[in-house]
Amino acid sequence: MDVGGGNGTVLAALLKAHEGLKGTVLDLPDTVAEARETIAAQGLADRCDVVAGSFFDPLPEGADGYLLSAVLHDWDDEASRSILRRCAEAAGGGRVFVAERIGPDGELHTETDLRMLAYLGGGRERGVAELAGLAADAGLRVAAVHPAPPLSVVELAAA
Ligand SMILES: C[S@@+](CC[C@H](N)C(=O)[O-])C[C@H]1O[C@@H](n2cnc3c(N)ncnc32)[C@H](O)[C@@H]1O
Repeated sequence: MDVGGGNGTVLAALLKAHEGLKGTVLDLPDTVAEARETIAAQGLADRCDVVAGSFFDPLPEGADGYLLSAVLHDWDDEASRSILRRCAEAAGGGRVFVAERIGPDGELHTETDLRMLAYLGGGRERGVAELAGLAADAGLRVAAVHPAPPLSVVELAAA
């Protein structure tokens, strides 16, 4: 489940790369209308649902993985904990994947951090250690960190 999956571009790429994969894009109502078009245009509607909802509300359960791609950097720590908690509740024994701009050394990007602060007020980039702290508050632990320059994907599992 691509939580805050935007216009569906990221999940469409994942589905194209992995033919056995099925997925769901969840985002706010106006945005999922766009995702529905992306998924249909790429011929992926038979493997992908599109759901309108908020990641501050309980999320649909039952997915093996819950992806937060470029989502947490829009939010302050309190909101990020709530989003992670919603993912943890829905994931149960499944995984939560956080994809953000984190350098290979696990550190945050200072330039993007300043941008998030300037543009969004509460938004900020975080390194692995900071994400691990927020995840722990949401009942999750870091299971692995997958480098995907210029991003890293932090894989979280139930603590
Ligand atoms: C920076 S975009 C990331 C989009 C996509 N995940 C990506 O990697 O390109 C953040 C997304 O969060 C969505 N969003 C914001 N508030 C939300 C909420 N309460 N519930 C679900 N999605 C939300 C926005 O609509 C937007 O699509």
